[in-house]
Amino acid sequence: MIERPLKVGIIGPGGIARSAHAPYYINDKRTELAAVTSRTLEKAEAFAKDFNVPAAYDDTQTMLENEDIDLVSICTPNKFHKDAVIQSLKAGCHVLCEKPPAMSLAEAEEMEFAAEEAGKVLMYAFHHRYNLETQVLKRAIEAGDLGSIYHTNVQAMRRRGIPGWGVFTNKELQGGGPLIDVGVHMLDLALYLTDFPEPIEVMGSTHKRIGHKPGVGLLGQWDPAKYEVEDLATGMVRFQNGMSMLIESSFAANQKEEETLNVKLLGDQGGAETAPLQLFEEKHGSLLNTTPAYLEKTDPRSSYERQITHFIDCCRGEAKPLSTPAQGTTVQRIVEGLYESAAKCQSVSLL
Ligand SMILES: NC(=O)c1ccc[n+]([C@@H]2O[C@H](COP(=O)([O-])OP(=O)(O)OC[C@H]3O[C@@H](n4cnc5c(N)ncnc54)[C@H](O)[C@@H]3O)[C@@H](O)[C@H]2O)c1
Repeated sequence: MIERPLKVGIIGPGGIARSAHAPYYINDKRTELAAVTSRTLEKAEAFAKDFNVPAAYDDTQTMLENEDIDLVSICTPNKFHKDAVIQSLKAGCHVLCEKPPAMSLAEAEEMEFAAEEAGKVLMYAFHHRYNLETQVLKRAIEAGDLGSIYHTNVQAMRRRGIPGWGVFTNKELQGGGPLIDVGVHMLDLALYLTDFPEPIEVMGSTHKRIGHKPGVGLLGQWDPAKYEVEDLATGMVRFQNGMSMLIESSFAANQKEEETLNVKLLGDQGGAETAPLQLFEEKHGSLLNTTPAYLEKTDPRSSYERQITHFIDCCRGEAKPLSTPAQGTTVQRIVEGLYESAAKCQSVSLL
């Protein structure tokens, strides 16, 4: 049992580090923020001042060499995840890396291998797993309430939700648009709920019809001149166990709903939707709708807090990680396959 607070390094002190990582390490007595690194010293120092972090750097390797850090949160743009993960693991740190795991399948595989070599925790920040409703549904599925799940429908659709900050529309830094950014959250959730069946084939399409036009939406005003990624990705995934999956993900679409983040599951004994949680169960000669009456804390942001708490538990050897590097690799395999299929206009085998 480790008694002293674990020292935390923040790599990439932008929006998500500020809102979903730093505050929860500060709140947890078992950790203390020890150092931060960014692309420029100015940014690292600004974060250090705001969160009372004793050391600021403009180079990850230097931070890892100079500071005695136990665990890191990696919150850089996607392009820099892989190097930061591998450097941190080699320096003996446990790692919580923001989603998506990486830019490509090859990178995710390298990261998985590095975690195995280092014998350290590597978790990806798929925080929807930590939603209390997700956990209720997971228990229902494990108890067999849905029977055999044969189809899932994955939706991460925004009407006008192109991020107006950061580099989310920059293909070189992010690797893609809504599919690799928000689609991955719901894709991971569907795979987690169905116990990660082996994907064997994908067929995807991408479209860029709205992002290049000026506009404003849920997440501010974007720069149409810098819009380089798809604004809609759709696809189908076929799994070894016979399960099928439809996936739809957009930053901007001419649809009625503001935003839909949902996974629909169809089983031969029942079905479910995640947002809000509803179960549809064949019982007593009827199909019954079930919803939770009370859940302690369903604020979506509380799942960020539970994620950090769980990561700290895992770093202290007190819990088994809820997400594994191999699962991150599978998510990446499907994302890459869908993009490849869209580019080639044909289905792609993942075997
Ligand atoms: N889990 C979620 O819900 C969620 C939400 C938003 C973003 N994210 C993920 O978090 C990551 C960052 O997103 P954000 O919204 O915080 O972006 P951001 O642009 O606000 O922050 C990124 C930060 O990384 C820094 N940075 C850039 N290159 C770096 C490098 N090589 N080394 C160190 N720091 C570097 C930037 O200066 C900036 O401070 C992305 O991978 C994104 O997919 C996750």
